[in-house]
Formats: sequence, structure tokens, C-alpha cells
Amino acid sequence: MSTAAAPESLLPLSAEELLMTTRGVRKRLDFSRPVERDVLRSCVAAALQAPSGSNRWALQFVIVTDADRRRAIGEAYRAGYETYRSLDGVYIGSIEKGDPDLDRQQQRTASSADFLAEHMGEAPAIVAACAPGRAEEGPAIRKTTLLGSVMPGMWSFMLAARLRGLGTCWTTVSLFEEEATAAAFGIDKDAVTIAAVSPVAYTRGTDFKPALRPDPDEVIHWDQW
Ligand SMILES: Cc1cc2nc3c(=O)[nH]c(=O)nc-3n(C[C@H](O)[C@H](O)[C@H](O)COP(=O)(O)O)c2cc1C
Repeated sequence: MSTAAAPESLLPLSAEELLMTTRGVRKRLDFSRPVERDVLRSCVAAALQAPSGSNRWALQFVIVTDADRRRAIGEAYRAGYETYRSLDGVYIGSIEKGDPDLDRQQQRTASSADFLAEHMGEAPAIVAACAPGRAEEGPAIRKTTLLGSVMPGMWSFMLAARLRGLGTCWTTVSLFEEEATAAAFGIDKDAVTIAAVSPVAYTRGTDFKPALRPDPDEVIHWDQW
């Protein structure tokens, strides 16, 4: 059992800065620098402090650094991205927000996503956040509990990674190629759900900014929807 984080050097970010500046990083991932296992281990330690349904600790990580497996994950990612790119209204670059600043931000993010499609396999580490079991089986509460037991922990992993100078990016498009992706991670896809796949690498520079987002009042429904 583990409760204390190992001493290591963390970026001097306030909690608010960490929450406001943890971006999906793609073009600024440094593919040339390996990520130490102990650093990845401490990100997992932070992830494991997140909530989980019935306190069952369903969250499991597959962290791939092996070059052949990374190449296979990258190929499945590229193939999945091609499917995603063909889906008008779903593909990030086909979504119009109806405001010039937001549209520019959207196209920048699309260009970044296109870049990752070509380079996923070059990330020094690629992480799959998983849970035993299949999300599609059983009643709705089973799906929400299964995925809800993975996602808070994975986001904590990403926040912990940012604190350690690492970049991550939540991705799912490789699940268009679930069989190949699961095989590349050594996962039995009939027994395990992959909730997210992320590259992990040190970032080139550590300065990231808050992104444009809706005003809180656009998404809050006080008292009733
Ligand atoms: C459920 C989910 C799936 C995503 N899938 C992908 C993906 O497959 N590829 C990708 O490049 N980004 C993916 N993203 C990242 C989003 O594009 C990103 O969070 C969004 O553009 C906001 O970027 P920012 O946080 O850097 O501002 C995904 C994010 C979520 C939450």
C-alpha cells in the first residue's frame, strides 16, 4: 500500500494554474527524451487517489515503452484517425463554433490533432487507462460506474504528469480500431475496457495557457435543466 508521494521536482504551479493550463499536448511533446519509470509510477500514485465506484480500485494502466508495441499502437491510431477524419460534424476540424476566435482555436487544435495522428507511435511512453469488464454489458449504471471509475483517475494522472513537466493528450480514436489497439497493448478486448489512450512525453517548454471556453453561465442550469 502507498500513501506518500516520492520526493521529486515538481513545477511551481498553483492548484488553480494546474487546473487552468493542463492542455492536450501534441506538437510540443519531446519524442527524443525518455520518461523515467519512477516518474510514471508517481503519476499513477496520484491517479489512484481519485474516486472509484464502491472503492474497488478498478483503474488499471498499461504503460508501453517498447518500440515495437508503440509502433503498432501508432499504426492503429493513424487508421482510427482516418475513420474519425471522414466523419463530418464529428472530426474536430469540421466543427464550426460560429465565432472567429473560437474557430481559429478549433482549427489550431485540429492541426495539432492531425499532427498526433502521424506521430503517436513516437511518444516515449503511451498509456492506456483501463478497467476490467466491458462497458456495454448490463444496465446504464454499470457503464457509468465502470467508465467513471477510470476517468477521474486518468485525469489525475494527466494533472500529475503536467506537474512533472510531462505532456499528455486524452485520445479515443484508436478505439475505431479496438482490436488492433488492444492487441498492441497486450489487452484482451473482450475482458477489459480501454477508456483512454494518451501519449506521455516531456514537453518542449512548460508554459501553457488557459484555452477559450464557454462562460460558466452558458452551461449552468440553476435548480433545474
Ligand atoms: C472523450 C475524449 C476523446 C478525445 N479524443 C481525442 C483523440 O482521439 N485525439 C486527439 O488528438 N484528441 C482527443 N481528445 C482531446 C480533445 O481534442 C481536447 O480535449 C480538446 O480539443 C480541448 O483541448 P485542450 O484541453 O488542449 O484545450 C479527446 C478528448 C476527450 C475528452
